[in-house]
Amino acid sequence: MKNATTRIAVFVSGGGTNLQALIDAADKGIIKSGRIELVISNNPDAYAIKRAESAGIPVAVVSKKACGSQEAFEEKLKETLREYDIELIVLAGFMNILSANFTKDYPERIINVHPSLIPSFCGKGFYGLRVHEAALEYGVKVTGATVHFVNEIPDGGRIILQKSVAIRKHDTPEILQQRVMRQAEWIILPKAVELVSKEINSLKKGN
Ligand code: GAR
Repeated sequence: MKNATTRIAVFVSGGGTNLQALIDAADKGIIKSGRIELVISNNPDAYAIKRAESAGIPVAVVSKKACGSQEAFEEKLKETLREYDIELIVLAGFMNILSANFTKDYPERIINVHPSLIPSFCGKGFYGLRVHEAALEYGVKVTGATVHFVNEIPDGGRIILQKSVAIRKHDTPEILQQRVMRQAEWIILPKAVELVSKEINSLKKGN
C-alpha cells in the first residue's frame, strides 16, 4: 500500500503568496493529509523559489523556453513529477496553460486557484491582475476566488471551493487583488488541498 500522506507538488511562476499560504497551513495543521514534496517553477527568477527554499522544500525549475516547445516542457514536467512520486499537483499562480496531453494523465489530480468567481472573468487571457481589471471594468459588486480541478478546458474543471469578496468604491486592480488574496485565495486553497488530499488517501486505503 502507498504512503497514507498525499505527495503534493506546487507549480508556481511568480510571487508565491499562495505557496506561502500552503506552507503556513501545513505548519498550522490545516493541511495534514498531504505534504508538499516539491515546488516546480517555470520562471527561474520567481520569488516563490525563495519561499520554498526557506521552508526546506525541494525546487525544480522547468522553463518552457529552455525546453523549446510546450510538448517538451510538459514531458519534462511529467518526468520531474514521476521522480518525486507526486500524487497531487497544485497550480498556485502558475502562468502557463497546460495542454490536454498533460491534464489527461492526471484526472482530478490537478487543482488550481483562480482569482474570480468562475464562470466570470476566467479562461484564456484571464490571469493575475487582468482578472481584477476586467471585474472592475465590468462593474461587478462582488468578486472572489475559486479553487477547481484542472481539465483540458482553461478554468473549466469541477469547482471545489469558492469564496466571495466585496468590491469597494475606490478599488484599483492592485488593491482588489490583495483583498481577494487575503480574504479568499489564501483561505480556500489550503482548505481545498486538505479536502482533496484526504480523498486521495481514503481511495488508497480502499485499494
Ligand atoms: C494569484 O492571484 C492567483 O490566483 C493568480 O495569480 C496570482 C498569483 O499570486 N492566478 C491566476 O490568475 C491563474 N489563472 P502568487 O504567486 O502570489 O500566489
